[in-house]
Amino acid sequence: MKDILEQLEERRETARLGGGQKRIDAQHGRGKLTARERVDLLLDEGSFEEFDMFVSHRCTDFGMENQKPAGDGVVTGWGTINGRLVYFYSQDFTVLGGSVSETHAKKICKIMDMAMQNGAPVIGLNDSGGARIQEGVDSLAGYAEIFQRNIMASGVIPQISVIMGPCAGGAVYSPAMTDFIFMVKDSSYMFVTGPEVVKTVTNEVVTAEELGGAGTHTKKSSVADAAFENDVEALAEVRRLVDLLPANNREGAPVRPFFDEPDRIEPSLDTLVPANANTPYDMKELILKLGDEGDFYEIQENFAKNIITGFIRIEGRTVGVVANQPMVLAGVLDIDSSRKAARFVRFCDCFEIPILTLVDVPGFLPGTSQEYGGVIKHGAKLLYAYGEATVPMVTLITRKAYGGAYDVMASKHLQSDFNYAWPTAEVAVMGAKGASEIIHRADKDDPEKLAQHTADYEARFANPFVAAERGFIDEVIQPRTTRKRIARAFASLRNKKKEMPWKKHGNIPL
Ligand code: HXC
Repeated sequence: MKDILEQLEERRETARLGGGQKRIDAQHGRGKLTARERVDLLLDEGSFEEFDMFVSHRCTDFGMENQKPAGDGVVTGWGTINGRLVYFYSQDFTVLGGSVSETHAKKICKIMDMAMQNGAPVIGLNDSGGARIQEGVDSLAGYAEIFQRNIMASGVIPQISVIMGPCAGGAVYSPAMTDFIFMVKDSSYMFVTGPEVVKTVTNEVVTAEELGGAGTHTKKSSVADAAFENDVEALAEVRRLVDLLPANNREGAPVRPFFDEPDRIEPSLDTLVPANANTPYDMKELILKLGDEGDFYEIQENFAKNIITGFIRIEGRTVGVVANQPMVLAGVLDIDSSRKAARFVRFCDCFEIPILTLVDVPGFLPGTSQEYGGVIKHGAKLLYAYGEATVPMVTLITRKAYGGAYDVMASKHLQSDFNYAWPTAEVAVMGAKGASEIIHRADKDDPEKLAQHTADYEARFANPFVAAERGFIDEVIQPRTTRKRIARAFASLRNKKKEMPWKKHGNIPL
């Protein structure tokens, strides 16, 4: 028995070494941790249980029969994050470049199946040279099996991808179908075709970093949700995110202890909105003052900054926040901000996370680039996402709610449950000046008369009361009491049940 146990330990030791010390050193030399070091940081200490440590590939082409590393380039298993079950895979770049073989893909599929069966999140740590070239179509089939599982798991269990090295070619489409993608700065990249192919086909000269690095995907393409300095920071942030999310679509997010009075009064909010309607203010200040302990987990912080998305907790419960940001483009809705917010609203809705919408929106951004880019369809995404959401929804208009954007931003008409406004709110078809110029066109060359018309329009519409008279605003509230009002509203909605008409699925404008 002793020999057998020793043999087992030897086998395990070899498997744990992956591609060997030289390759581990090279991995460290690139500023990257190994697959197993990453798992250690991701999971609670001592909670890691491994699957398939001894699995190896079955390829016999190109001399592969002489190269059969245990584990086949991916560490898979389960463990806990702050005591809650998660499944993960962590690709091992030191073994055949972390490339995906038939068996490597099977290992990933196995843990995805377990995660689905047991209703727990899947976290993928990606660091791979892509399809195992020696295996050809077997590898492609393996990828497609993973893709299909990503699709089946979408909206059932949270899926999080962390890109910690190469992720290229069709391989990008597995992370692309997950809920969140994190990247590590300077050591990760994602693209469908790499710099060499780009040069051959389009003559563009571009580095891997420029084409698909963390900066590109968090600022330009919006493929990734956040970028972090190094592996350690990225994994710590995954843990923080998992803590905010439910394990699956039936359980609801965990309730955490909180040390902040739900009734907390914030007198400073009474003066947050400046006297001049065109002066910006920072909507993040409001978000931080509403959430428990001023904590805010922002998603896509560096993309479409005219809208803010992320999570806070109120009374220890996760709330998704969507907020126009007057500091950037006056908080206007455009293609990028509509897409960003729509995806976030849909994430919250499929995982039963209540949504708080903070509105200060002057309308949609005009211009040919917006119209040619399809702002009609993209704006419709946000409208559709709100309109089909059945989770508890609370909306607060702090200042402007103009035109179609008023309707879109979780208005009463889209079945939001509580629609509050501050006394500074202005609910109108458009700003007073623009409105007067249109309805009093005859006076367009008379600045005095126009100023009078503008003042009249302002007096009539630059307030929340016309909407409140019609019941489109449920209550005009004092800014200082906002946290209390919102906390009470969400508390009253905890048992909300809302059915949508039966359908196979809707046809959201894509
Ligand atoms: C088999 C691979 C591999 C792959 C890397 N390796 N990628 N083995 N299949 N796809 C091996 C290398 O041969 C090498 O082995 C080891 O991993 C480390 O790779 P290096 O090239 O030394 O590392 P580095 O210089 O850091 O370059 C990393 C790399 C490069 C940029 C990822 O390896 C590369 O370009 N690989 C090929 C990428 C590729 O074309 N993949 C297929 C894409 S198509 P040794 O033994 O020499 O150390 C695809 C389709 C997915 O993925 C389909 C989904 C539908």
